[in-house]
Amino acid sequence: MNLNTFNLYLFGGTGDLSNRKLIPAMFRQEALGNIDSNSEIIGIGSRDISVDEYVSMIKNSLEKYFPSFIENDEAWNRFSNRVNYIKVDINLDNDWKNINNVPDDRAVIYYLATPPNLYKQISTCLKDNNLIFDNCRVVVEKPIGSDLESAKDINNSLSAGFKENQIYRIDHYLGKEAVQNLLALRFANTIFEKSWSNSAIDHIQITVAEDLGVEDRGDYYDVTGALRDMVQNHLLQILCLIAMEPPVSIQSESVRDEKLKVLKSLAPFTKENIGINSVRGQYLDGISKGEPACSYLDEEGVDSKNNTETFVALKLEINNWRWSGVPFYLRTGKRMHSKSSEIVVRYKSVPHNIFSKSASLKADQLVLRIHPDEGIDLKLNTKQPGVSGYDLQELPLDLNLQDYHELGHQDCYERLLLDVIRGNPSLFVRRDEIEASWQWIDNIINLWESEDVSMEEYISGGWGPSNADLLLKKDFRSWKNGSIKK
Ligand code: BG6
Repeated sequence: MNLNTFNLYLFGGTGDLSNRKLIPAMFRQEALGNIDSNSEIIGIGSRDISVDEYVSMIKNSLEKYFPSFIENDEAWNRFSNRVNYIKVDINLDNDWKNINNVPDDRAVIYYLATPPNLYKQISTCLKDNNLIFDNCRVVVEKPIGSDLESAKDINNSLSAGFKENQIYRIDHYLGKEAVQNLLALRFANTIFEKSWSNSAIDHIQITVAEDLGVEDRGDYYDVTGALRDMVQNHLLQILCLIAMEPPVSIQSESVRDEKLKVLKSLAPFTKENIGINSVRGQYLDGISKGEPACSYLDEEGVDSKNNTETFVALKLEINNWRWSGVPFYLRTGKRMHSKSSEIVVRYKSVPHNIFSKSASLKADQLVLRIHPDEGIDLKLNTKQPGVSGYDLQELPLDLNLQDYHELGHQDCYERLLLDVIRGNPSLFVRRDEIEASWQWIDNIINLWESEDVSMEEYISGGWGPSNADLLLKKDFRSWKNGSIKK
């Protein structure tokens, strides 16, 4: 594969995202021989450094985040030759003139790897300095706003200069193989579709648990919280892929149209059910991965007045024919027992048990694992060998994708960057999806405040507050904790 020729302008070119993710992703594609020889990568930053200094900065970060790069001198030579640096202090009108000769014969990508509060200013300046042409694309990261109003504000300023099909909003979960596999599983097989509805499914759980705390991002996290940081984007996107109707094709607009319908069908929480169907929590100290871990309130950059949640669990409903009556339980949190992301589809019990009442007849369970190991497990009831009658046993049909492919080397930013270069927006989030999800999230935030929904505590290293267990227990259900393989 050789990509189309491109110029990638990295705003925030000296920052963390560029160093940790974007440069290593491009370098790996370089090493694979996928980058056209005329393409250029241009770091943009406010620091007054030379191109050589920038190149050696990149080299240092590759050494740190991509150790095997050293083994590939040839690729590094090619890569370092295509790297350039332009000093732009975005507050200085004159500096914008440093960006010139933007080519019109290739894809031009402006990647805003900057804090989101700069999106508006940068896109306005790009427009005012006549740097936007038909061949240009702009890439922005989450969070797109902190509520519906601020999201609209950012979207308006982006669309003042760019057409919607030039705007690529990243949700890095959509770059994960296991997340893309949800579409293949659902729409490349007939076996699931007939039972993919309230006729056969009892409920669905989506868990994205992290073992880390807020690390060095206390300042950002404390004004954001788990609902905005994870649910508004990653969990709702996964929910959409699980719940959407079959799209007409895999083309971006078909898929996005169906995702939007799911977001618009989410039943809004009410003041009567917000305290019953949502749980917010904050971690206490405890033991995480065998080491003592401090409480959220003791993390740097955290202000107890903000009362920020590091855990959320929600029971939600989708108001449409397919899903009416099927609860979806979502949960995400920091400093939980382990890093594990999975979707659990619990089928209904058989309508009539012909076996002995004492035979343990469990409802079938399909587990779609995203992390740590990507795979699909279907738990089925089988007969235990023997002559004593029907003793049933639940056993897995277990597909471990690692057994078939070398996974884990590719980072989701590689696929996403390549898609921007190829001009394929399927794995990016459209404006109306972002706005529909904020509308639903804003309602929860407002209700948490107006109804004074309490903040539950949980021990670091556990599975969240006990009320999150109650959320299912009162429906005679329980969370599946951790990977089925363990
Ligand atoms: C980011 C959140 O979007 O996703 C982080 O801002 C979170 O708080 C991260 O840690 C999780 O991503 P992954 O790919 O490590 O599961």
